[in-house]
Amino acid sequence: MNKEYSFNIKRKRPEDLFENVSDYFKAETLKNYAESKSIMRTQKKITIRALELLELKNNRPLILDAGCGPGFAAMYLNELGYKTVVLDIISEFLKYYDIEYLNPILADMCYSPFKPDSFDSIISISALQWVIRDVKSKSERLILTNLFVSFYQILKPKSKMIVQFYPKSTVIMDYIAEIVNSKTKFKGNFIIDNPNNPKKRKVYLLLKK
Ligand SMILES: C[S@@+](CC[C@H](N)C(=O)[O-])C[C@H]1O[C@@H](n2cnc3c(N)ncnc32)[C@H](O)[C@@H]1O
Repeated sequence: MNKEYSFNIKRKRPEDLFENVSDYFKAETLKNYAESKSIMRTQKKITIRALELLELKNNRPLILDAGCGPGFAAMYLNELGYKTVVLDIISEFLKYYDIEYLNPILADMCYSPFKPDSFDSIISISALQWVIRDVKSKSERLILTNLFVSFYQILKPKSKMIVQFYPKSTVIMDYIAEIVNSKTKFKGNFIIDNPNNPKKRKVYLLLKK
């Protein structure tokens, strides 16, 4: 990993305060997220950048949006003519808008329900921080390993995937890199936009099978 930057966020985030993502995203919080125009705009910008980094070659790729929430990324992918499958662990998100056309699946992205070699790409926007919080937790290590091993399996050969997320420190990023390198044959790296600006910083993990 490029060592020109480093950060360590002390402020508590929702994923530090709630053990289960479904305990946080419910009622008003879920509604506020799903209906926020500014969040929708931000998630669209992140999706545009993720697509730029992916450099997809296939004209009509089938893309999995893992941890899709109300479907902001996949709605945009659909506008571009991409085929999607969207997956989330919270059923209310999948029902919030009429997104049948995006092929919603209620599942845990760490235990993928798909056959090997199913997707041309995987995009996951602002979700991974809910999976890895504590590098000392053995159970989180197993879950994270499962996530990357199953993403590797369900991607078609030579395909790429991208994960944008909000790590709290570079220690977490190194930890993820160690798991990806030791448990899968993915090749890739982190890309960090605005590394020294905590408000604008965006971390992407780009991996190729
Ligand atoms: C901040 S929201 C982002 C939603 C969406 N990707 C977007 O860009 O608006 C995080 C999402 O990750 C989902 N999520 C977290 N852990 C998950 C898991 N293990 N499996 C599936 N979805 C998960 C949550 O349910 C939530 O919808």
